Amino acid sequence: MEPVRITIFDTTLRDGEQSPGCSMNVPEKLRMAHQLDRLGVDVIEAGFPIASEGDFAAVQAIAAVIRRPIIAGLARACRPDIERAWQALKDASRPRIHVFLATSDIHLKYKLRISRQQCLEQARDAVRLAKSLCQDVEFSPEDATRTDLEFLLQIVQAVVEAGATTVNIPDTVGYSMPAEFGELIQTIRQRVPGIEKVTISAHCHNDLGLAVANSLSAVAAGARQVECTINGIGERAGNASLEEIVMAARVRPDRYVYKTEVVSEQLFPASQMLSEITGVPVQPNKAIIGRNAFAHEAGIHQDGMLKNPLTYEIMTPRSVGVPDSTLVLGKHSGRHALNLRCEQLGFQFERRELDEIYRKFVVLADKIKHVEDHHLMELIRQTHGGRRIPPAPVADLPLAIAAAAGSGRDYPQKPLSFPLPAEFSPSGLPLNPMAEHHSEQEDYLWGV
Ligand code: KIV
Ligand code: ZN
Repeated sequence: MEPVRITIFDTTLRDGEQSPGCSMNVPEKLRMAHQLDRLGVDVIEAGFPIASEGDFAAVQAIAAVIRRPIIAGLARACRPDIERAWQALKDASRPRIHVFLATSDIHLKYKLRISRQQCLEQARDAVRLAKSLCQDVEFSPEDATRTDLEFLLQIVQAVVEAGATTVNIPDTVGYSMPAEFGELIQTIRQRVPGIEKVTISAHCHNDLGLAVANSLSAVAAGARQVECTINGIGERAGNASLEEIVMAARVRPDRYVYKTEVVSEQLFPASQMLSEITGVPVQPNKAIIGRNAFAHEAGIHQDGMLKNPLTYEIMTPRSVGVPDSTLVLGKHSGRHALNLRCEQLGFQFERRELDEIYRKFVVLADKIKHVEDHHLMELIRQTHGGRRIPPAPVADLPLAIAAAAGSGRDYPQKPLSFPLPAEFSPSGLPLNPMAEHHSEQEDYLWGV
């Protein structure tokens, strides 16, 4: 079956930028937009032109130089916003005006103070106006998932008749459940006349941690555009994470027969660039691009990884642009991982020699979280006087760690001496009862 093409609408520079600490200036936005272009997203929502002079300038600058993707600018459903958005976008090779208006009773009553009828007319008029300026018009009924269903269907029909080319369904407050959100998309497809002429889009926030699940559910129900951000940044708990959506479809084509034009090897560079620009770090365990996403510390996992990375990796680090897997040496590490790191540092040991180093390593790892190379070098020097052999050839190393060994890192010609923690003394360590072990099964249990 031919995979269905999904449009990736990136809103890192608009919704993402709205998250605390993530604001960017014009050159920063431009730099990020170039990376989004390299990443292969279909739409870049470059900003909200009426919001500030800076936002206007950023949208205008991006529209002028980024020519492949569609460049979108956000506007409330009123003339000044729409005209300002068009001013910023008009030189884009593929401009899109994105108009939004809240439709839930809560928003109508407390925020906008208008009736449903006024809301319907305002949405229709705004889309007509946008359409008179720009062929490509997207409409979003803000807070759609808490909007009365019959009223939402009326709004969607009105904006389709007025000329919207994309109808985006936002789960503005991250309230929906995956099955429920999928049903909503399906109902819109079944009940709105003319909906087949437009693209249905999903825009999910992550307040319950369900933004990606909801987006995938929407796609399964017929949405053909997803709105998302790098690193999942965005208002409050963020937006659906672009990297997670893209890789879910790539890793599980058996369940999600969808394709995007995203160049997955550019995901990690995009994530790093955003983090560097905003100064907002990525949580270490963040899926796909977090520091630990490809790190393996537990002995069983490291042992499996060294035998075949497929044991614990469902995608290669390189497929998302991460240089290689990282075997973190800590108290859960096994002897195989320790041995490999010793080889990478230029040392090869007999089994008994390694046992001795391993005993000391475990004691040290109990005291300090991560055993770095210099700690290991000192352990080796104190234990065996630093007998050095040439590093193992890269080709002999398992794929996942081969890149590290061949990465041009210079291993020292002779063991260096680094101070270990003051309280650590390799002599007088208790004898480990597991020191004498000879079978593969013992290797497997060691360090678990
Ligand atoms: O979350 C939201 O409702 C929005 C709209 C402007 C699309 O960001
Ligand atoms: Zn949003």
